[in-house]
Amino acid sequence: MKLAVVPGDGIGKEVIPVALAVLDAFGLDIEKVPLEIGYGKWERTGSALTDEDMSVIKECDCVLFGAITTPPDPNYKSVLMRLRKELDLYANIRPFAPLANVKLPCNKKVFDFVIVRENTEGMYSGIEELHENVAYTTRVISRKGSERIAENACSIAKKRKKHITVVHKANVLKSDSFFRDICTGVARRNGISYNEMLVDAMAYDLVLRPEKYDVLVTTNLFGDILSDVAAAISGGLGLCPSANIGNRHALFEPIHGSAPDIAGRGIANPIASILSVRMMLQWMGLETEAQVLGNAVDSVIQKGIVSPDMGGSYSTIEVGNAIAAKVINVP
Ligand code: NAI
Ligand code: MG
Repeated sequence: MKLAVVPGDGIGKEVIPVALAVLDAFGLDIEKVPLEIGYGKWERTGSALTDEDMSVIKECDCVLFGAITTPPDPNYKSVLMRLRKELDLYANIRPFAPLANVKLPCNKKVFDFVIVRENTEGMYSGIEELHENVAYTTRVISRKGSERIAENACSIAKKRKKHITVVHKANVLKSDSFFRDICTGVARRNGISYNEMLVDAMAYDLVLRPEKYDVLVTTNLFGDILSDVAAAISGGLGLCPSANIGNRHALFEPIHGSAPDIAGRGIANPIASILSVRMMLQWMGLETEAQVLGNAVDSVIQKGIVSPDMGGSYSTIEVGNAIAAKVINVP
């Protein structure tokens, strides 16, 4: 297994080495390929991600990605968008369930849902025009893109409650009635029950009644926004992992960005990145290791070894070391 490691910028440089140290504690046979990509590289060379970086990544099986600070350049094209498109990572999977002993901002303590977000088209098609007095972005919803994300959601639902919620804005957007009809058709074909929600109502309900939901499937921008809502009710961005899955490659990353406001202080929460490693272990079929890692995270949180965003006083490295020690000490 060959893993490209892209810490990126800001706290990405702090949390990814810690997550890698936790992975190393398992002693698995994984070849790591470190890559410098991001804002720092853009400042130095004028390019955040080169074609050569891209071909190195394509030779790897998967990527562990931190976060990239967006350069202040109107012509800058998002590195993550390019990676998702060129590696055809069409499914963005974001699970949300409160971790044991985590203080939540609302009184909903029991929920467990997954956001399955189309990851290569929609509002992030990259088809844009910027004129002096008007700007256009073309929202692309294709049959192929909608079918494969709906299939992905159904295959996740088959292992859970056999139900999906299709999230859209079909009352306004024709492209979304197209998306909805494809998703519901795929669900019927798979014997999966479904309901639908308008995205604005969904944002509202997710805050008030998250326990009602299991597998949500939606388009790119809506999934991006809803997953930050979901992160807020789950205890914060510092805790939430994600997987970007394609047929050949996969990329695992925390949901959060490079957090320039706390970067360089050694206080970023590494748990989102460590749980992204856990999703990578699951993708590799290493269920036992994934289980061990989940238990290690729960137990370290229970002991109060947590970073300032969770009300603790431990550093990024201290939290990571405590989790790695739990992994090593499993009999
Ligand atoms: P952000 O996620 O970096 O930070 C939002 C807030 O959450 C900040 O107050 C930050 O301190 C806090 N936070 C985030 N992760 C944390 C962690 N692990 N531990 C403790 N606190 C944490 O979002 P923001 O500020 O909107 O973006 C900063 C930069 O990151 C921008 O340049 C943005 O474009 C980029 N970004 C990159 C992403 C990526 O590469 N995947 C995703 C989101 C933003
Ligand atoms: Mg986002």
